[in-house]
Amino acid sequence: MMNMTTAPPILERLSALGDETRARILALLERSELTVTELASVLQAPQPGVSRHLKTLAAEGWVEARAQGRNRHYRLAPDLDEPARALWRIVRKEIGGSGIYAADAERARGVLERRRLRSAEFFAQAAERWDEVREQLFGPSANLLPMLGLLQEDWVVADLGVGTGALAETLAPFAARVIGVDRSEQMLAAARHRLGQTANVEIRRGDLERLPVADEELDVAVLALVLHYVVDPPAVLAEVRRALKPRGRLVLMDMRTHDRGPWYAEEMGHVWPGFEADQVRGWLVEAGFAHARVVPLPPSRDATGPLLFLASAVKP
Ligand SMILES: C[S@@+](CC[C@H](N)C(=O)[O-])C[C@H]1O[C@@H](n2cnc3c(N)ncnc32)[C@H](O)[C@@H]1O
Repeated sequence: MMNMTTAPPILERLSALGDETRARILALLERSELTVTELASVLQAPQPGVSRHLKTLAAEGWVEARAQGRNRHYRLAPDLDEPARALWRIVRKEIGGSGIYAADAERARGVLERRRLRSAEFFAQAAERWDEVREQLFGPSANLLPMLGLLQEDWVVADLGVGTGALAETLAPFAARVIGVDRSEQMLAAARHRLGQTANVEIRRGDLERLPVADEELDVAVLALVLHYVVDPPAVLAEVRRALKPRGRLVLMDMRTHDRGPWYAEEMGHVWPGFEADQVRGWLVEAGFAHARVVPLPPSRDATGPLLFLASAVKP
């Protein structure tokens, strides 16, 4: 990386801009990353000359490069300071109307199109193994993580039955505040250990039957793998409704009815052997929720436990 740790003062950056080829290079690199070969093809200039111009631009902090395979990809330095940006805006405005820059931009589109075709070729061959590659590169939850963007940054989200706080930790960067509630002091100790440094997570000890949450404090309430421990689910759902703002959402994930035998429930301390979709939908309606929906979740490849469902509903 030709990353300038301290940007040269503006007077020492002027000379690079006083050359038409370098201005053309900057105009191109402002829009896309290009290699020397690609730049030479777009500028219709010999490669050694283009390399020399890039060296000058890099020395004055205008561009930087990153290595990819055997190539170096150049781009306009993303951390240009404001005086340099202002200067570049003036130069770009001056040159913007000239036909040569429009022709450069047109040829650059051709170069990028060739690159697009190369990535299309990659996916044409990779379709069969893409799921595996994706999981190897980015982990098993990467296909669900984009959904966190559906949370609004000013929302208060409660993770009810927070357990050791893994979900609360994942939610925290996407919400204004996360409130974790649990009745088990041991689970809460683990959650506090995990979340001690996370400023916008608050842990509260309490029961789901009498939530330590004010009326209409929450935008979202999450109940993940906790309802099957609850003796009176309709009463808990009514209590969750109280804590939600109007238009607030409940998200509930739990086990579908399973037949693992009594030892399983006994060992795990379960009160319910999972739930039927109609049963959960009925309870949500009874608790005063609208848009009640229960969707079975697909089996997870390496999971050994019972199948899950996801229910959601809105407080009218
Ligand atoms: C199976 S753990 C799930 C934890 C977490 N939600 C997760 O998905 O990993 C269930 C948690 O709910 C808590 N819990 C069960 N019943 C509860 C109740 N009535 N009130 C408060 N917490 C409860 C337990 O202490 C436990 O930490």
